[in-house]
Amino acid sequence: MDDILTEKPSVSVEMAPMEGITTAVYRRVYRKWFEGIDRMYTPFLVANRTHKFKTREKKETEVCSQDLIPQILTDKAEHFIWAARELRSAGFSEVNLNAGCPSATVTTKRKGAGMLEDTRALRSFLDEIFTAKESGDLPEISIKTRVGVSFYSEAEDIADIYAMYPFAKVIVHPRIRDDFYKNVPNKDAFRVFYDRISHDKLVYNGDLRNTEDVRMVYRGFPGLSGIMLGRGLLADPFLPKRIWLGDDAGETPFSEEEKKNLLGFLEELYEEYERELSEGTAIVKMKDLWNFMAVSFPGNEKLLKAIRKSRNGSEYKTAVRNCLR
Ligand SMILES: Cc1cc2nc3c(=O)[nH]c(=O)nc-3n(C[C@H](O)[C@H](O)[C@H](O)COP(=O)(O)O)c2cc1C
Repeated sequence: MDDILTEKPSVSVEMAPMEGITTAVYRRVYRKWFEGIDRMYTPFLVANRTHKFKTREKKETEVCSQDLIPQILTDKAEHFIWAARELRSAGFSEVNLNAGCPSATVTTKRKGAGMLEDTRALRSFLDEIFTAKESGDLPEISIKTRVGVSFYSEAEDIADIYAMYPFAKVIVHPRIRDDFYKNVPNKDAFRVFYDRISHDKLVYNGDLRNTEDVRMVYRGFPGLSGIMLGRGLLADPFLPKRIWLGDDAGETPFSEEEKKNLLGFLEELYEEYERELSEGTAIVKMKDLWNFMAVSFPGNEKLLKAIRKSRNGSEYKTAVRNCLR
């Protein structure tokens, strides 16, 4: 399985949905500057009783492509079915159900990871949506999930349930809801899914930050359908290419050539946000992204601080150029 790292992997390399960060603008500009991502997901779109998406959510699905999968967050099968139909008529061939968001405002409404609390309710939700899918007018359905709410032992029942339905993909982030983003992803809990779910639909997600992390997952779980990269990809947008080439980034991952590319990417991203939003909001968006990128600039505290403290576009751009010089 190591061999796949010497050429374009046969597993799909997927960009994780990250609300507020992997926006349509980010995804478009990312595609222009970097290679190696096979599938991307929109951050979650809320399906509720209004049966309308917000303007901001509509922007996420304005450009339809085969490698973009809209993600839906909801607590009612009826709303999911509405959203899936709507997205299918907009041209999408797959939608993804969010069963992983750990935020209390979401889980108390039994959405996101809150869906995993009551497995009977989860089953009836899935029964309803897959029955509707049999009627033929719904796209493929995938799920992105945590492995439980409060205990890793919950993984058994949840994996058994998913194994009963014809999901296109099952993306597993092996943390429980109560972990939020703390603790390490639990490989034993992932194995519970690996043992029950067909490998050609199983995708691993969680803390993949470099080639070695990916190699460990390939070794432990050969035959996976894909890997999904979140914070590791934000920190190092070249990560898919590194995985593909088997290149292990060192302490300072960016070569001179890469720094030039990264600067081009960041400048275009800023310009696009400024055009779409405003100078102030564009800076906020870029600083949010820099919170995830900072780990790739060890020892550059002063330069990073200048980015954090920048008050307008010109200060921001100068600070970024200094950091990438
Ligand atoms: C700021 C932020 C926003 C996120 N938004 C979403 C989202 O909209 N939908 C989703 O399924 N997961 C979301 N996630 C979870 C990520 O997709 C991913 O599962 C998680 O970060 C673990 O993967 P990683 O260790 O590769 O980052 C978000 C995570 C973060 C940190």
